[in-house]
Amino acid sequence: MAAACLCAETYPKIEEIIQAKGATPDSLIEILHAVQEEIGYLPQPVQEFIADRLGISAGTVEGVVSFYSYFTTVPRGRHTIKVCQGTACYVRGGKRVLEVVAHHAGCGVGETSPDMKYSLEVVRCIGACGLSPVMTVDEDVYERVKPTKVGELLDKYE
Ligand code: FES
Repeated sequence: MAAACLCAETYPKIEEIIQAKGATPDSLIEILHAVQEEIGYLPQPVQEFIADRLGISAGTVEGVVSFYSYFTTVPRGRHTIKVCQGTACYVRGGKRVLEVVAHHAGCGVGETSPDMKYSLEVVRCIGACGLSPVMTVDEDVYERVKPTKVGELLDKYE
């Protein structure tokens, strides 16, 4: 994934993607996927540009972007933290884990830290309830997470 920026080269790249996928409303999801892969997120001006090029309303594009959790309108950090807030994790300390993670990462749920290091999300059960509370950082899974160990755990990531 490229660095998240809306610089002068961004729109020609988006135009290339639109040309490659086809400038029709049917290609919208495919285009959004490819553009997010290219620039890392789908901010409002980019959504409006795509809407204009496909001849559809900005509201239609916004509706699709907000419907699929894969799409994001904020730049992503280098690492994605997901803290489980499913019932088992929640009642076994997941709420506190989330508070400590947010504090340590420096961002709230759905946000990216100012240093672009972390993006924070919550998930509803990843199927490891017996080992709750659970969180992941990128592909790494952490089980029976103790709030007091969160700082040490996150410090491993650059
Ligand atoms: S509730 Fe967290 S893994 Fe199932």
